[in-house]
Amino acid sequence: MFISKRLACVVIVLLITLNAEAKKKKKSTQLTTSDYEYMIKYGWYPRGVQHDPQSGASSLASMQLFAGLEPTGIMNDETRELIATPRCGNRDIFGANQMHGPPNRAKRYAASSYVWSKTDLKYYFENFSSRLTAEETRDAIQRAFDLWAEHSPLTFQETDDIATTDFVITFATGDHGDGIHNAFDGPRGTLGHAYYPEDGRAHFDDDEDFTVGSHNGVNLYIVAAHEFGHAFGLGHSDVQGSLMYPWYQGYVENYQLPQDDIQGIQQMYGMPPEDEAPAPPGASPNQRSGDNLPDTCTSSWDAVDTSFDGKVFAFKGKYLWRIKNNGAANGFPKKITSFYKRAPSNVDAVVTSRVNQKTYIFKGNRYWRYTNYKLDANFPKKLKPTGLPKSVSAAFVWGGNGKIHIFKGNHFYIFNERTEKIKGGKRTIRDKWHGIPTSVTSAFQWKNGKTYFFRGDKYWRFDDSSLQKERGYPKSKALYWMGCGATPDLPEPIRVLPEENEERN
Ligand SMILES: *[C@@H]1O[C@H](CO)[C@@H](O)[C@H](O)[C@H]1NC(C)=O
Repeated sequence: MFISKRLACVVIVLLITLNAEAKKKKKSTQLTTSDYEYMIKYGWYPRGVQHDPQSGASSLASMQLFAGLEPTGIMNDETRELIATPRCGNRDIFGANQMHGPPNRAKRYAASSYVWSKTDLKYYFENFSSRLTAEETRDAIQRAFDLWAEHSPLTFQETDDIATTDFVITFATGDHGDGIHNAFDGPRGTLGHAYYPEDGRAHFDDDEDFTVGSHNGVNLYIVAAHEFGHAFGLGHSDVQGSLMYPWYQGYVENYQLPQDDIQGIQQMYGMPPEDEAPAPPGASPNQRSGDNLPDTCTSSWDAVDTSFDGKVFAFKGKYLWRIKNNGAANGFPKKITSFYKRAPSNVDAVVTSRVNQKTYIFKGNRYWRYTNYKLDANFPKKLKPTGLPKSVSAAFVWGGNGKIHIFKGNHFYIFNERTEKIKGGKRTIRDKWHGIPTSVTSAFQWKNGKTYFFRGDKYWRFDDSSLQKERGYPKSKALYWMGCGATPDLPEPIRVLPEENEERN
């Protein structure tokens, strides 16, 4: 009796202690309104919906994972510290109100679909930091641009003409005309933000204690370099230590652009021209001798395609070239069979489906189907059951609807990769592809989503909104696609949308 009474007493005391402990814990780990505000501001939680602890926790876990913290979904000291760290004002996630779990991909940069359509860019100072001299500001901004210029084909020049500038640099405080949600917030917190291409506005919070060459305050050079990354089209990276990581990581002497950011900018714009490996001496693509290698600059193409892994190949005879952002890759042409084993030569058309990622090679009355560069079983097959005519001239995925279009003579067909049959009957090229000659020999969709048509040395770009050939075409294939011009300028069609869907969905 005595014992049990005493036990009961102990149990009660224990319960009370546990309860108090639990309450204390619960309070400090619960998401506050300002935590939700923070997640909303940076794109982790939708604006204008009821704050719900369950989705709040999942948003928090996503943010923690992105930042490199343990994705507990629970507010803890580490996460509080993160939230208190000064950072960029841009969102971490592309697009509004994107709700999804932790991104299941390798950690890395995020290239957006927004790019500059030229590489020689100008910047203009609307005003200067009130903590630094104009010269100090100018120098920090110039070094910030140079950091990126060193690893890309982009070039930057200051201009005093606001009418022709690409970037406008502004130091402002508080609400500065970008909407109340993008207002600056005094010292620390948000340090700056920038608009995606081709807008060009880069804003810095003038309440920050911007410094140069010092561990005190906030280093303008590094913050500006980060903001310019956005201004070129890069989103936030989840790689700690990368420049595009959203949280300010302090001043580093002799700062070098981290590898993750180099990959990001090069995926969007290509490498700096001088980094392209020089052609082996005496073997300029024009003058290569050997067993009937097609000439890189003067050959027409039989076909052109973007393969499932994003490589662009142009086909001629037994050979193919790999086409990169700044022309034909070194070491090409190579045998078609070094990529597509058992493929025919002198192909009619090649296209890779965006639905099943398979590559279809058409020749004569047959077609070959590849998965991951391997010929599928039972191929080649006869074309007849598909409803396609023999000896087609070009095949491509049209960005307008993602469907495979096949040209032959004055007609085109839509090929359904699920049934491997044409959908509907034959249609007339002239009715839909205004301004595109029916005699094109190859066509494909480049990384910018646009369709390009080729014949001989000419190519045409199709405008999907007006449904006709774009103005200024045809242009020279050798010059813009193969890098054969006298001027080593970047070819014009270099408007890359890397893995757009992966980043945006
Ligand atoms: C710079 O210009 C912006 C926009 O006109 C203005 O809001 C801001 O106060 C100016 N800042 C300074 C430091 O003059």
